[in-house]
Amino acid sequence: MTHLEHLISLCPLEGLRVADVGAGDGVYSLQLDAAGAKVTAIEIDAEKVARAQENLPNSVDVRLGAAEDIPLETGSQDLVCLFFSLHHVPEDVQYAAFAEFRRVLKGSGHLHIVEPYPYGTMFDVVRMVEDETLVRTRSHQLLNRIDGEKGFKLENKREYVLTRDYPTFEIFLEKIVLPDPKRVQDYKAVAAEMEDTFSRVKETLEGQVVLHQPCAAYHFSVCE
Ligand SMILES: C[S@@+](CC[C@H](N)C(=O)[O-])C[C@H]1O[C@@H](n2cnc3c(N)ncnc32)[C@H](O)[C@@H]1O
Repeated sequence: MTHLEHLISLCPLEGLRVADVGAGDGVYSLQLDAAGAKVTAIEIDAEKVARAQENLPNSVDVRLGAAEDIPLETGSQDLVCLFFSLHHVPEDVQYAAFAEFRRVLKGSGHLHIVEPYPYGTMFDVVRMVEDETLVRTRSHQLLNRIDGEKGFKLENKREYVLTRDYPTFEIFLEKIVLPDPKRVQDYKAVAAEMEDTFSRVKETLEGQVVLHQPCAAYHFSVCE
């Protein structure tokens, strides 16, 4: 199961105006665009915005902005999506961000948020350089209580496992640790232990070396 496979099973994306909030380098903005949506990627990190603007097709509008201050018109979007980004939004503004999601959505709109759980083989390895146990636990708590609040009704909650392939530990480092200076700093102290953990928990699936990340997708409709 992928994020887009699940999302498309809930709502066809063709022609929808979609805001991908906390878009990072735009991996999912690109997939939303390919599925026929009119996508605006919103990202707070200026370097990622620059990379996304360079790499994504012109049909994706990439903007610098924050979940708590979205640079989009009121009532302009059919769908707001967050893929693994809510727990990165500072906790003191997370609840307020829901008012912002509601502001930019049409009355017929939907909010789709996918968050990783603080367990799984991917988490077992990554936590050694960035332990997100607390922020992930709290983001799920918030999502479970938002039903009926802030103008949103929870229509569907689905748990699935995201599987990512990393042929070698070096490739895992290149993709997951090296792009983040803070992780690189912490990696020095746990290098050997981290490689051992990767070797111990990795699985081989259809000839590919993979790590698993369980997650839950929360799909809300707008309500008054
Ligand atoms: C784990 S990454 C996920 C990126 C992308 N959605 C993906 O799944 O590949 C989380 C992203 O959220 C961004 N972010 C953090 N705080 C944010 C905020 N307040 N508003 C918008 N984006 C934010 C980070 O810069 C980062 O790019």
